Amino acid sequence: MADVAAFLRKEPELYVVYDENVASLAREVLEALPVKGSFGLKTSEQRKTLETVQGLCRQLLEAGASRNACLLAIGGGITTDMTGFAAAIYKRGIRYSNLPTTLLAQVDAAIGGKTGVNLDGYKNMLGTFRMPEYTFLCADVLKTLPPRELRAGLAELLKTFLIGDAEAYEQAVRFFADPRSDISGLITRAAQIKADIVAQDPEEHGIRAKLNLGHTFGHAIEHEAQKKGDDIHHGEAVAMGMILAARLSERMGLAPEGMEEKLRADFQALGLPAECPYPPETLTAAMALDKKAAEGRVKWILLEAPGRVIIKEMTVKEAMDDLR
Ligand code: GLY
Repeated sequence: MADVAAFLRKEPELYVVYDENVASLAREVLEALPVKGSFGLKTSEQRKTLETVQGLCRQLLEAGASRNACLLAIGGGITTDMTGFAAAIYKRGIRYSNLPTTLLAQVDAAIGGKTGVNLDGYKNMLGTFRMPEYTFLCADVLKTLPPRELRAGLAELLKTFLIGDAEAYEQAVRFFADPRSDISGLITRAAQIKADIVAQDPEEHGIRAKLNLGHTFGHAIEHEAQKKGDDIHHGEAVAMGMILAARLSERMGLAPEGMEEKLRADFQALGLPAECPYPPETLTAAMALDKKAAEGRVKWILLEAPGRVIIKEMTVKEAMDDLR
């Protein structure tokens, strides 16, 4: 925790928001830093709501947090997304930093300033862009991460490499087949690729949309899972979504034959689910509500080759026709 303390020691009004699942890590940080207050969150996609963020803002108000306050989020993507959102709206905006404790948050959610909550089961429908002051990447905190959580993060890591670094993709596939591997170099590389894309297009008017590879399908899979009470993690849905995106790319003649099969084999070797359990037609309504959709057209992120993706606007119907 040495780095976190060095960067945040001088904060005059620091408040820590932590996932109760990582309370012992939060305690370490609280002991190392002068903190005005700390708030524990019970996290789940169902609790990732405006009401939870409102509750957090109320606690800040009751604690006397001023516009000089800075929040430190300790937890996974749900915690960093909600803390960032609270920071964006409390008293019209205060600062925040992230100490992500899951691989998924380290390589994706906690980087780039997308904050928000779900609405009626639709993912991240309410939110803002607000950049964190710092995101602290600490591979050590992943040592106690349950294997399923680690694999879910791996899906986002592979996604980033499929977008921007073919060599790192192959390296990651080899690397993760050996559970004793040191992961920190790959985390840094993925974080760097994402940070570079975000720096060019912070509010997603153009190339940042590439980071949504697998997400149009993935968010619809998550929505369907929530409706049915099935337990599918975001990272797992993204893995299934990337397979569907590869299939669509192949069917449209953008990717060489065998791309879907390659991804499926790679993902399965790493213990990631590759098959979407729902027929694609059941996902269409949720996909049409994709945040990135405008006038019925969705920005599909399609794979030409590992390390190379393109953005193509099409209606959900056009995409579904191609997928058949
Ligand atoms: N998770 C995609 C993005 O941050 O743009």
